[in-house]
Formats: sequence, structure tokens, C-alpha cells
Amino acid sequence: MKDAGAAVTALPILEGIERLPLAVAMRESFWLYPTVETLHIAGIAGLFGTVLLLDLRLLGIGRAVLLSPLIRLAVPVSLVSFMLVALTGSLMFLAHAQEFVASPLFVYKIAFVMLLLTNAAVLHLRAAGHPDDSNAYRLGGLGRIQVALSIFGWLCVIGMGRWLAYV
Ligand code: HEM
Repeated sequence: MKDAGAAVTALPILEGIERLPLAVAMRESFWLYPTVETLHIAGIAGLFGTVLLLDLRLLGIGRAVLLSPLIRLAVPVSLVSFMLVALTGSLMFLAHAQEFVASPLFVYKIAFVMLLLTNAAVLHLRAAGHPDDSNAYRLGGLGRIQVALSIFGWLCVIGMGRWLAYV
């Protein structure tokens, strides 16, 4: 990815972004980019870990765990993790904005993130509409497809993020 030849989209705004002091520091500091990337991975662990637990529970795995308390614990962890991922991802973006915008993989990754956030919000609103602790909530066929797509989609985002370093 760190290939100057990919800078085909020489938009002034992207050049300006890459000249920001923070963007320069991200490129020139020995430790900054790897540290931010480490925090990106920590955020991914928090996000995917909590999403996976919730999704499995929604699919009916681990019914002994009450859904409402699980939602109360997992959703705030997901949200904070997502904020960390978005912040650190944006910092890395600053450093090589032109290359990332020119990379279809990066564009697909961000599009997937948007779709998956929408999917998660729809699933959450539906489950949160049943706030009892009786564990009676069951997903219908469409909901189960949404949950399966959620797990698969977040895995794709992880894969696309990793592949960015190689293409
Ligand atoms: C929300 C906005 C996000 C932005 C702007 C963003 C941006 C980035 C950038 C710029 C990189 C660096 C690629 C490189 O240096 O080659 C990266 C790496 C990565 N991202 Fe994201 N990302 C975001 C969200 C996510 C999410 C939600 C996930 C997964 C759930 C994810 C998974 C990854 C992975 C696995 C890597 C590779 C890390 C490594 O190999 O060290 N990203 N991301």
C-alpha cells in the first residue's frame, strides 16, 4: 500500500490532508504509526468480540445468558471500541490519504463498515424493543440472515483492512 505510484487521485484536499502536521508525524515518526495501528487492532478486538457474542446469542447459542444484561454490557463496549477504531483508522488515513482514496479495497472497506453499522442499528432497535429479561426474544428468518451477514461482513472488513498492507 505504501506505494507512491498509487497517488493517482491528486485532489488538492487530499494533498492538504497529507501535509497536516499530524499526517507528517504519522509518516515520519518511528513509533507513531505502529502504535496507532496497535490501538486500531485493540479496537477491532473489542468491536468484533462483542458483536460476535451478541450475534451468537441472537442466533440462539448460549440461551442461558439473559439477552438484556448481555446487551447492556456488550453494546457500550462495542460503541467505545468502534470510536477507537474510527479514530485510529482516520489517523492512519491522514498519513496516506491519496493512496487510500485511490484503493478500491479501502473504499469497499469503508462502505462495508457503513452497511454493517446500519445493520447493527436495525438489529439492536428490534431486540431493544423487547426489554424483558425473560429470554423469550426470538429472531425471525430475516433477522437470522442479518445476524449471519453481520458476522461474515465484519470478518470481511478485518480481511480487507489486513490486505490493505499488501495491495
Ligand atoms: C471506521 C473507519 C475505519 C477507518 C477509517 C480505517 C482505516 C484503516 C487504515 C488507514 C488502515 C491502515 C492500512 C495500512 O496501513 O496498510 C487500517 C488497517 C486495518 N483495519 Fe481499519 N479502518 C476503519 C475501521 C475498521 C474496522 C471496523 C475494522 C474491523 C472490524 C478494521 C480492520 C482493520 C485491520 C484488520 C487492519 C490491518 C491492521 C494491521 O494489519 O496491522 N478497520 N484501517
